[in-house]
Amino acid sequence: MHVTLRQLSLFASVARHLSYTRAAEELHLSQPAVSMQVKQLEENVGMSLLEQVGKKTYLTTAGKEMYSYSRAIADLLDEADGVIEALKGVRRGRLSVSVATTASHFTTRLLAAFAKQHPDITISLDITNRQMLQRQLENNEPDLVIMGQPPKGVDVEADIFMENPLVMIAPANHPLTKETAIPLNYFSAENFVVREPGSGTRGATQRFFDQHQVPFNTAIEMTSNEAIKQAVEAGLGLGIVSIHTIELELETRRLKILDVQDFPIQRDWYILQRKGKRLSPAAVAFKGFVLSEAARFIRLPGGQTNRNGC
Ligand code: PGA
Repeated sequence: MHVTLRQLSLFASVARHLSYTRAAEELHLSQPAVSMQVKQLEENVGMSLLEQVGKKTYLTTAGKEMYSYSRAIADLLDEADGVIEALKGVRRGRLSVSVATTASHFTTRLLAAFAKQHPDITISLDITNRQMLQRQLENNEPDLVIMGQPPKGVDVEADIFMENPLVMIAPANHPLTKETAIPLNYFSAENFVVREPGSGTRGATQRFFDQHQVPFNTAIEMTSNEAIKQAVEAGLGLGIVSIHTIELELETRRLKILDVQDFPIQRDWYILQRKGKRLSPAAVAFKGFVLSEAARFIRLPGGQTNRNGC
């Protein structure tokens, strides 16, 4: 069936008033223009929709069916209009954010604050490592990504919103916690508890040791920062983690940051999307929220000012 929305809305008006004249008045059109459109609709449908008995206009059986469908279509269009308008005003919509494992320590807090301001936005959060994020970006899957460094090989639009210092951690009773300015090569024979290959933290740490020409011994690999903290606490080895992951352990004094020369390894957090991606209003709002509000919601433990980029 080949009908236009204009024909349907003109027909609906005639059907509602059972009068071409009143429909024409309502729509500010001439009566012949309205009759012509309805006639065309009848031709497209292949049946009469209205009949004239004496001076009165009636709906045929096909006309009644068509009237009920045109009302349903008009209602759906209204609904679509409302949803689109709401999206423009960021009241509703969907937001998919993928974040690096380490970023999940603060992203949930950011999302919670954002969700409070926009309760009708449906948010989906995927937490994965840097390598997987790169793959997701290649496939243009998430709206936005939060990670430690924009990936090479994918064109992205990236903005820095916060520092991401990597610190060396030890159990609170470790003898080195009393030392200051420990030279990095002191750790050349040390065993570290590290993240899996593919982790941004792991990659940055390896690059840092390579740059300083100090061997980096990776004794035990773990895919979670939580597990690394527990392993370090249990004395399995020292760890190098983002300061964002140890807020609680520092507060409760279960872990301590070692004072190592050239530390912390200074990185930054980026929020990014594929270059040229048309962000939804919800995604634009979330990106703006992160760029302007992150500092208010995320407390960086300790005074980490030394920048040794890696
Ligand atoms: P990750 O995150 O170590 O959890 O992968 C940090 C990053 O993206 O660099």
